[in-house]
Amino acid sequence: MSNKESLIALKDIGVTYNSGGKNEVAAITDINLQIKSREFIAVLGPSGCGKSTLLNVLAGFVKPSCGDALMNGKPITAPNFQRGVMFQTPVLYPWLSVKENVEFGLKMRNFDKKGRSKLSDKYLKDVELFEFKNHKPYELSGGMRQRAALARALASSPSIILLDEPFGALDAFTKINMQILTRTVWSMDKSAFFLITHDVDEALSLATRALVMSKRPGKIIKEFNIEFTYHINETVSDKIRFSKEYISLREEILSLIYRQTSDESGYVI
Ligand SMILES: Nc1ncnc2c1ncn2[C@@H]1O[C@H](COP(=O)(O)OP(=O)(O)OP(=O)(O)O)[C@@H](O)[C@H]1O
Ligand SMILES: [Mg+2]
Repeated sequence: MSNKESLIALKDIGVTYNSGGKNEVAAITDINLQIKSREFIAVLGPSGCGKSTLLNVLAGFVKPSCGDALMNGKPITAPNFQRGVMFQTPVLYPWLSVKENVEFGLKMRNFDKKGRSKLSDKYLKDVELFEFKNHKPYELSGGMRQRAALARALASSPSIILLDEPFGALDAFTKINMQILTRTVWSMDKSAFFLITHDVDEALSLATRALVMSKRPGKIIKEFNIEFTYHINETVSDKIRFSKEYISLREEILSLIYRQTSDESGYVI
């Protein structure tokens, strides 16, 4: 794939924190990755392997120690509204209403009141939070706060949304609802998604491509194209999760990750 076709291109990216100091940590190395528009990428790998570091490079929060990070052919040097970010703990301003939170980035970009309102209404409806638009974040449940954060990320019409374990702290039912919502939003929206997760089922049922990373310093050791997401969207059912193909891919990915964390135990997944 040429750089022209890809939304984002990472070339030989490496990040070493505190380089040369006694706390030097090589977090990621030799990362080569091209992300196309509208792709849904899931990243899996052992804890501490550099997944968040990779996301932070894409976001523009961390400057790579080597290599090139490009978006639409231009270097990523700082955060930008074209790359929305969502974390495990939703970062909402407590003194602003849900609607004002969703509109915050638009206001910074000088959208007028009417334009802001139209966009926030649309995305609050999409995440089923419209009736709570005048509530403050402390009046919402954890899942609702995550939905507000998703609406805020979407309202800026970013080319890509970067999600760092966004559903990791939610209870099982809320998590499933958020996954359904994310899949629906992705299929309706124009943004690409880049999702870090520890949950292989989440990766297999949301992504169109899964990347598995090695232990630190993290490299991409294998990638899989995934068709299940399309199937789930078309059939409005996740029965595919009981298919032979799904179970065997799930096992392959789990055993790859497990091998990274424990070479010696002899335990077979
Ligand atoms: N700002 C930082 N300064 C120094 N070291 C850091 C910094 N951020 C991360 N690291 C180190 O880089 C390595 C990779 O961390 P990172 O958070 O990217 O891993 P991760 O794969 O996201 O882990 P987890 O799955 O536990 O979230 C770790 O050893 C961590 O201690
Ligand atoms: Mg992390």
